[in-house]
Amino acid sequence: MKRMLKKVLGKNAADAVRPYFPMTRSKWKLILIKRRFKEFGERSTITSPSIFQGMENISIGKDSDIGAFVHIWGNGGVTIGDGVLIASHVVITSLTHSYSGKQIKNAPTVAAPIHIDNGVWIGAHAVIMPGVTIGEGAVIGAGAIVTSNVPAMAIAVGVPARIIKYRE
Ligand SMILES: CC(C)(COP(=O)(O)OP(=O)(O)OC[C@H]1O[C@@H](n2cnc3c(N)ncnc32)[C@H](O)[C@@H]1OP(=O)(O)O)[C@@H](O)C(=O)NCCC(=O)NCCS
Repeated sequence: MKRMLKKVLGKNAADAVRPYFPMTRSKWKLILIKRRFKEFGERSTITSPSIFQGMENISIGKDSDIGAFVHIWGNGGVTIGDGVLIASHVVITSLTHSYSGKQIKNAPTVAAPIHIDNGVWIGAHAVIMPGVTIGEGAVIGAGAIVTSNVPAMAIAVGVPARIIKYRE
């Protein structure tokens, strides 16, 4: 199938669209796309459309579900464990821009890995910032911006995300 794509689109065209290629419902595309992740565990699912950049640095465990309109910048390294639920419109970015110098566009990017442990639930529209670790079983409320680590079983909400309680 990969060879067929290259034949139809031409090698360069296929390479050019690769980083921005949105997920689609078509099964064969999903099969190809899953193979481009560093790891993609059994029974994990992705809902269309979602965008993954730096896929070779993104690991997804087993039994995890990624909702629609999720955008993951994986270039700095993103590890998602087993049984993780990521709701729609979540942004996970392991990259940011250095803002020193005159032009941000030409400033170097700064990368820091993100770890999302087993059994985490991330509510809709949350943003997970570079370098953050979210501990096992933690819950991130809808719309939260997570700028620092969240311990296991904590429930964190708001901007910036703060712990309001722990799961029992
Ligand atoms: C985080 C969450 C799980 C907490 O649920 P809960 O335990 O029932 O929390 P409560 O409703 O008792 O709220 C506790 C407090 O946190 C606040 N709060 C709850 N969720 C919040 C959120 N996402 N952002 C900001 N504050 C929030 C409440 O206003 C309340 O504040 P108060 O004590 O000052 O009144 C839930 O609110 C949430 O965000 N769920 C995500 C839903 C979602 O994204 N679904 C998509 C499909 S998976």
